[in-house]
Parts: sequence; structure tokens; C-alpha cells
Amino acid sequence: MSQKPKEPGDRREFFVKLGIGAGLVALGGQGLASLRSLVPNVSYDSPTTVKLGYPQEFPEGMKFLPDQRLYVFREGKVLHAISAVCTHLGCTVRAEALSQVEVRTVEGSPLRLTHRFLCPCHGSKYTGDGENVAGPAPRPLAWYHLSIATDDGQLVVDLARPVERSFRLTLA
Ligand code: FES
Repeated sequence: MSQKPKEPGDRREFFVKLGIGAGLVALGGQGLASLRSLVPNVSYDSPTTVKLGYPQEFPEGMKFLPDQRLYVFREGKVLHAISAVCTHLGCTVRAEALSQVEVRTVEGSPLRLTHRFLCPCHGSKYTGDGENVAGPAPRPLAWYHLSIATDDGQLVVDLARPVERSFRLTLA
């Protein structure tokens, strides 16, 4: 059986199909590139590790940082940080000074309690170490990891790293 020789029309048809195929591939590539351009390369989430300032900017006692919704406590060279985010529905708790300082052993470590925390939204109450004692709050306030930045010596909080209530950062 002999094969029929190709007609010039067949060749033209082949090149037309090839051209259409190449066009579709190019369009597909363009479409993917356009879709990719809609996805940003940078994250606009707020960073979880935040420089809070130099240790000397933290006075003895308590300092509230509204941007991080964080209370930083300092006693001499020892610091710890407690979240101001209510564990009920996330309102910012306010600190109320105690009339008398209380010393409590928290997870095996002594802690001077100078404040307690109250939530203005639904009345949850927390002790000065963040333990929930009244209202709908289901859990204690979070404590966050503190460290000193190696590049410039600022105090750093890691808001993605909750720690035990025995955590303390001791300055050198
Ligand atoms: S948000 Fe704090 S008690 Fe509801």
C-alpha cells in the first residue's frame, strides 16, 4: 500500500494549526502572569516580632504599649510582658493599680502584683499575672516572649510566641 503524497493544502493547514496552538500557549502564559500579578509579593500582616524601644525607656513598674496591646512590667533588671487582649472577644483590658502590692508565687516563680486587669466590654476580671477570675473570659491573658535585639539592644516582643507565666527576661 503506497502513501498518498501530501498536498500543499495539508501543509498550510498544519502551519495554521501550529500558529493557533502557539497563540493559545502564549495567551495562557499571559493569563497566568496576569493572575500572579494580583497576588502581592509582600505580606501586609503586622509583624509578630516587634522592637519596643530601649530598656531604659521602660520605667520601674508598668508601661502600656497601645500599638502592641501589651503591658510590660519591670522590676529592677527583670521584665515580663502580658497581653492586653481579653480572651473573651478581644477587647483591650485596662490595668487598675492595686491599693496594696501583692506577692504571689506563679508557676514556681515569685511575682509582685501591682495591678489587676479589667475588661470594659463584658466585665471579665484578671489578676495581675493575667489569670481570669471573673466574667466570661475563658483563659488567662497571654504572656509573650521578650528578648534583646542583637543589632541595637532594643527590647523585642514576639507576639507569636506565648510563654509560661514563669518567664522573665533578665537584663545584663
Ligand atoms: S471581650 Fe472582654 S469580657 Fe468580653
